[in-house]
Amino acid sequence: MDASNGSQDTEQTLDSQVKAFFDSAPPLQNRNDIIQKLNHFIQLNSLSSENGIGKRIVCVTSGGTTAPLEQRCVRYVDNFSSGHRGATSTEYFLKAGYAVIFLYRRGSFQPFCRSLPDDPLLECFEATEGLNIQVREAYSKAVKTAIVDHHAAVDSGLLLKLPFSTIFEYLQMLQIISKPMKDIGPRAMFYLAAAVSDFYVPWKDMVEHKIQSGSHILDVKLVPVPKMLSVLRKDWAPLAFCISFKLETDSNILLNKARGALEKYNMHAVVANELSTRKEQVVVVTIDDKITVQRDKSKADDDVENPLIKLLSQRHSAYIEDPKRMR
Ligand code: PMT
Repeated sequence: MDASNGSQDTEQTLDSQVKAFFDSAPPLQNRNDIIQKLNHFIQLNSLSSENGIGKRIVCVTSGGTTAPLEQRCVRYVDNFSSGHRGATSTEYFLKAGYAVIFLYRRGSFQPFCRSLPDDPLLECFEATEGLNIQVREAYSKAVKTAIVDHHAAVDSGLLLKLPFSTIFEYLQMLQIISKPMKDIGPRAMFYLAAAVSDFYVPWKDMVEHKIQSGSHILDVKLVPVPKMLSVLRKDWAPLAFCISFKLETDSNILLNKARGALEKYNMHAVVANELSTRKEQVVVVTIDDKITVQRDKSKADDDVENPLIKLLSQRHSAYIEDPKRMR
């Protein structure tokens, strides 16, 4: 048997799966608006720099994608992710001097808002006797920091926020983002923390209206979502520095799975995290290292993303200097 034929077949299968996915996806609303915002953002940050070669730009993906079961969607399969990892990492990337494209699930955690309560509008504010609105004393610092830091990042053109809900929106947007990112070569980074659906119902096979609850069995055929990581690395943005994540609940298989993903998708690093300890520690798996990164427990408000982004930013700088050294 000819092994090269085998890998060609696999590539053809992936290519046809990718084509089928995009052909079946409902067209993205605001596509032109998104492209315009992106081009402006990347152009702005390519001009501004400390060293004359433009800023580093990272696309942080955050939150879980949904796979709808009906075209006029009432029900969907969801993926677990609060968006905490992506939102927190965005703050540390901005601190490290990056411009950030924050591709996030609508309604998930937002950068600079992590210290606010669940219902900030109702819990952080109160009406005075004259019916003026004021911030409650207990939330004064958190509200001020959130507003000031958020507006500073957005107004100075360093943070672009783009929301998605479905797997169709997410992958179309990731593809759109990768186009101008390709043009900035190794200064681009993808930090893929989103929890992406593994299965979906192709749009053309999906019922239009709400599935009726009369029958005892729900018979829906879901097909695998093509792993876009290989496509991103090979075609969409081959010079970008790519970090993906591996989430497991069984710590015994986590590192092997992360190593497998690193090799299979040709990532520069895979961040391995176990569900219950993900806010305390992660392991950064690269081709020649396994680095455990932990939150500084002596500081109540330290985050594991603080040392994690420092490490990845250093690795990214080394990669920009010599892209061939790290693959
Ligand atoms: O948001 P939090 O509550 O803070 O939690 C953070 C997190 C645990 C969700 C995050 O740290 C994390 O691990 N995210 C990835 C979880 C995941 O879905 O892993 P996966 O094995 O399904 O996918 C691995 C990688 O492949 C991911 O980087 C994903 O973006 C990518 N992928 C997945 C499926 C697919 N069809 N295409 C992809 O590109």
